[in-house]
Amino acid sequence: MALERRIALRYLGSADPLDIDAYIARGGFEGFRKALAMDPGTLLGEIERSVLRGRGGAGFPAGLKEKSTRASCDDCERFVVCNADEGEPGTFKDRVIMEGEPYLLVEGMLISALAIGSSYGYLYIRGEYALAIERMAKAIGTARARGFLGDGIFGGRFSFDFEIRKGAGSYLCGEELTLLESLEGKRGYPRLKPPFPAEKGLWGRPTLVNNVETMANLPWIAEYGADAYLTMGSAGSPGTKIFCFSGDVERPGFAELELGLPLRTLIEEFAGGVKGGGEPLAVLLGGAAGTFVSGGMLDLAMDYDALKASGATLGSGAVIVLGRNRSLPDMLISIMDFFAHESCGKCVPCRVGTTRLAKAAKALAALDGAARTDALEAMVAEAELMAKTSLCPLGQSPVLPLKSALRNLRGPLEG
Ligand SMILES: Cc1cc2nc3c(=O)[nH]c(=O)nc-3n(C[C@H](O)[C@H](O)[C@H](O)COP(=O)(O)O)c2cc1C
Ligand code: SF4
Repeated sequence: MALERRIALRYLGSADPLDIDAYIARGGFEGFRKALAMDPGTLLGEIERSVLRGRGGAGFPAGLKEKSTRASCDDCERFVVCNADEGEPGTFKDRVIMEGEPYLLVEGMLISALAIGSSYGYLYIRGEYALAIERMAKAIGTARARGFLGDGIFGGRFSFDFEIRKGAGSYLCGEELTLLESLEGKRGYPRLKPPFPAEKGLWGRPTLVNNVETMANLPWIAEYGADAYLTMGSAGSPGTKIFCFSGDVERPGFAELELGLPLRTLIEEFAGGVKGGGEPLAVLLGGAAGTFVSGGMLDLAMDYDALKASGATLGSGAVIVLGRNRSLPDMLISIMDFFAHESCGKCVPCRVGTTRLAKAAKALAALDGAARTDALEAMVAEAELMAKTSLCPLGQSPVLPLKSALRNLRGPLEG
């Protein structure tokens, strides 16, 4: 039986989450102390060598992003922004970290700040996460009172502090450039890329935007080093990932596992198997902006590159299981309604396209047999056009579940 390997969840459940002494007694802030003793180049090198990939969805190497944010200017203000918007359907891992081990995220923010040379940051949390907001606010206050945040930390030259900003429930505000607009107090419309946040982010300054889980890996890497991190997971995807199980499984929940395990192991050993037994009809990996795989594809290795090679995505780590009695057209309706609701309306291809796709999904559900496949092919063509002409990544997302459903789920679609 595969075992959980807890790196980003290493302190979860071990003590009162807000007891800073218990956190320190269990080794908390050791990674930060080690990082503080390193010169920035060594710290950046260690993170880069660990091949830690962003856990927010895109899987971009964290060390590379930090390096380019630092290199964007010689001696200017740089910001650290932690993305805790967690808007991807089926994803709830960042909430677990913030509620269960808030000091670990404080420590991750500190190490990020050391790596890029920043003295101020923001934690952008979705407004619905009341308990996470409350606990993070208390943890920040206690860490400040105990000298882990503020001016001249431990009497040295490094100063860093950060504050919480609440999101108002827009999925698009989880997209990094839209998030920065929202932080600046503007309407949640995306910015054009490039420039990337590393060059020109918050108020035009170089800005590091990382997901909560990405930052929660940094204390371990700083404490034990890249070589130790590289012993976990697979070659291109070292380390662990928190997977979130939902849908038709016996035990919905989460587990932090080494990357590269087969999808079957995740579902059968950590989610208690498919409700009612047997293989699922389909699994949606990575949420609404994710990809469908069929019940016959459970031997896929859950790492970034293996999934990509099969046309699938790891995304945020959501594993949404559809039992054999589920209707695939109903699922497509739900996903397309979601995108139509969350489109910000700024550009025509997405504003009109998402509404048309939502209507098309409902029309598809009213058809039978091969006519459904024809309808799905037409939807994919429209979503592809939308992806090419939309302003931001939201408009490029609907094609992912649609295309993967067409490729992998013809049987369930027509049956
Ligand atoms: C529509 C949309 C929504 C997103 N929502 C989130 C989110 O809720 N949380 C998150 O960490 N990343 C989200 N992302 C990804 C971010 O744009 C960005 O890639 C991420 O914060 C970078 O952090 P990482 O490199 O640590 O993954 C979203 C992207 C898109 C296109
Ligand atoms: S692609 Fe969609 S979400 Fe993005 S700017 Fe255009 S309308 Fe807004």
